[in-house]
Amino acid sequence: MLLQGNICTLRSVESKDIDTILLWENDPALAPFSDPHPPYSRSDIEEFIRSEEAGFETNRQMRLMIECEGKTIGAIDLFDYDGEQAEVGILIHNETNRRKGYARAALRAVIGYARDLRLKRLKAIIADDNLPSRALFEGCGFVKTDNFTYICNMKRIIAPSILSADFGNLERDVRMLDESRAEWVHVDVMDGVFVPNISFGFPVLKPVRTATRKVVDTHLMICDPIRYVERFAKAGSDYVTFHYEATDDVDACIDAIHAAGAKAGISVKPATDVRVVEKWLHKLDMVLIMSVEPGFGGQSFIASSLDKVRTLREMIDACGANCLIEIDGGIGEKNAGEIFAAGAEVLVAGSSVFGADDPKAAIVKMLEAK
Ligand code: DX5
Ligand code: ZN
Repeated sequence: MLLQGNICTLRSVESKDIDTILLWENDPALAPFSDPHPPYSRSDIEEFIRSEEAGFETNRQMRLMIECEGKTIGAIDLFDYDGEQAEVGILIHNETNRRKGYARAALRAVIGYARDLRLKRLKAIIADDNLPSRALFEGCGFVKTDNFTYICNMKRIIAPSILSADFGNLERDVRMLDESRAEWVHVDVMDGVFVPNISFGFPVLKPVRTATRKVVDTHLMICDPIRYVERFAKAGSDYVTFHYEATDDVDACIDAIHAAGAKAGISVKPATDVRVVEKWLHKLDMVLIMSVEPGFGGQSFIASSLDKVRTLREMIDACGANCLIEIDGGIGEKNAGEIFAAGAEVLVAGSSVFGADDPKAAIVKMLEAK
């Protein structure tokens, strides 16, 4: 395989079938490009795109040329790159090439490139009757969100909740997470007043912190969180999330968490309109949408939570805030794909991880869910 162009971009090319992938950015004319071989020249491809894919002409930022056995067989473009999202279009010149898997390998390369760019999402517009393209994009982790739109979320984090762990073997369970593909560990603190259940506090958080290198994500389901946010931050939480419904001074809570060196999240219960958090999005690091009534693990996902995620996604994108969307309750491999597709980035999962025969495999299934 020969790679030209921006090599770091191309490290995720997996297919041995691809001889050459040529990449250029911004201005195709300036890019390193040796004349493609028949049967398709570069101008053929340009012409093809103009005639067939006119909608893909705007603001082109980057193109991958796909060459196999010395022939240019197609191209993949990223458009409308805005720092967060890009639209991806793929052009493969005939079904034989498509079948050989070149398109799939090239699309994977683009996804890798988008990750390198720290893009949050890739979007593709695919006609309903274009079954080969739909199969191709779905096979690479894109999820259909309406009739034409397919979304691939770049950021996918699983945060297993130790509420469902075996407390008699907590260190063992946390070390297991440390070896898993979960990037975060979710710690649910309940005071028996804000929610009708009591879980644990600082004495449990500390050994969790010691047992893992992962991000410790503390979810405070307690009244008057301002009294404790600093201590939870100093006890080793990377994120401290408090409830909107539990305080009358959101700013003070966020500021206290930041002052203690942690990242600040706010959570809303199922009955709370997610738009209440809008004015704080710029200073928040995360919004946590509860998809069950807080208090207990093992409940069913409340379906309307997906609309809350979509609304919040639009709010965050509209104002350009650097704020993650986390969702908590009733999540497992069956619904993880659509929740990621709606725009959530961090999925909390308790019983679906610790109740699984193979918790590490359950985490992978959620990460790769379609
Ligand atoms: C509920 C907690 C959740 C809970 C999730 O109040 O905030 O984190 O542990 O558990 P599952 O995934 O079982 O719904
Ligand atoms: Zn939680």
